[in-house]
Amino acid sequence: MSRTSLPKDFLWGFATASYQVEGAPAEDARGDSIWDVFCRIPGKIAGNENGDIACDSYHRYKEDVKLLKDMGARAYRFSISWSRVIPLGGREDPVNQKGLQYYIDLVDELLANGIEPMVTLFHWDLPQGLERYGGLLNKEEFVADYAQYSRIIFQALGDKVKYWVTFNEPWCSSILGYNEGVFAPGRTSNRSKSSVGDSSTEPWLVGHNLLIAHGAAVKIYREEFKPTQKGQIGITLNGDWVEPWDPEDPKDIEACQRKLEFAISWFGDVVYFGDYPESMRKQLGDRLPRFTPEEKDLVQGSNDFYGMNHYCANYIKHRSGEPEPEDYLGNLESLLVNKEGQEIGPVTQSPWLRPHAVGFRKLLKWISDRYGRPAIYVTENGTSLKGENDLSKEEILEDDFRVWYFKEYVTAMAEAYTHDDVDVRGYMAWSLMDNFEWAEGFETRFGVTFVDYHNGQQRFPKKSAKAMKGLFDSLMRES
Ligand code: NOJ
Repeated sequence: MSRTSLPKDFLWGFATASYQVEGAPAEDARGDSIWDVFCRIPGKIAGNENGDIACDSYHRYKEDVKLLKDMGARAYRFSISWSRVIPLGGREDPVNQKGLQYYIDLVDELLANGIEPMVTLFHWDLPQGLERYGGLLNKEEFVADYAQYSRIIFQALGDKVKYWVTFNEPWCSSILGYNEGVFAPGRTSNRSKSSVGDSSTEPWLVGHNLLIAHGAAVKIYREEFKPTQKGQIGITLNGDWVEPWDPEDPKDIEACQRKLEFAISWFGDVVYFGDYPESMRKQLGDRLPRFTPEEKDLVQGSNDFYGMNHYCANYIKHRSGEPEPEDYLGNLESLLVNKEGQEIGPVTQSPWLRPHAVGFRKLLKWISDRYGRPAIYVTENGTSLKGENDLSKEEILEDDFRVWYFKEYVTAMAEAYTHDDVDVRGYMAWSLMDNFEWAEGFETRFGVTFVDYHNGQQRFPKKSAKAMKGLFDSLMRES
């Protein structure tokens, strides 16, 4: 059996996203995004925080790049704030050169330091201006606006950027934004008091529109830019691993597969096969939109690589009876403890995140098998630590739990590469630094770098930041 390793040219580094790190919400004419607006609603974000300052990366990007360089990173995945580049968002609205310049400078700084940029075009911060027509719910307008925005970015950065992600975790935009209502724009009919929207239909429409917009951007890239720029483009999907609550119960085993289909294949099957999985059609019927033949052509085959965000695993228990109209899991429960009372993994600060590294290896294989061995870039993986925010700075810097997490997960990935024939080519740890963790505000830290929010956003690498290079060096030595 060959020694567990990763290829020599493996692209590893760290990831962030615009609203989580940049700050400077109105500087150089940036327009509001739906997250700026959402954060202003009292009670939506822990501590009523917002991303107005965050890590102040708009002013400190050179420091960020230096951190990456010191850590030995080969790549950096960041996202573009659409409303910085087109403050009102629309295809007829003016382009803001100053906003664009920020990203040109960032890319130049990365390249000058030998770090490969990976650019996410959309990491949830839709320009608020596009809510004038219903934002992600309006297929024609949204797809046309996103297509033009993408074109502007390819034009400005495409000579230098070789890795593009169209959308980050469309599942979260759809479900958390339009069913749970805990993410912008906060639409939900699940919460009796402040009910807006229809959670039994809107998330599926939003997912559909995001997929078509993805297809439209890929077509533009492939036709207008790829022949000369020679980059690669794909969508990033989130997905947790699943284990049956009762391994003896065939219905729980079936429910595991259904859960993966509702979470991953909702998007993955469309991108690779051109349609939604049968299990979703069966449960959702006509509430799940249908693709026209033209749309199908646009989306099918639209991934140059599979972008994979992965954090944890759950136990899955089937439900009997009819699913609720707003059910988005696939008529099942997702649990942290199994029938025997065993927990899936240790507690972290994030209620949903329980490390279970062997699940990473299994999920890599599942994706590889289902989609015909695509090239996979892990675009996010990482952990928070229970109570980290309550510790002293000195204690935070000794993040042994995070060191352990990365060792387990990166090793599991190398095992998938070496022993399961999975074509994994890159890995971006989440995150380069502590940042604005959406609805959890600043209470939850995911960084390998401590950001001192009370002292001018100073950055201090944690033990995990230093451990990463050693980890990858040992695995990439030979292959
Ligand atoms: C995935 C998201 O893409 C990222 O923005 C978020 O901070 C991490 N998960 C951690 O929750």
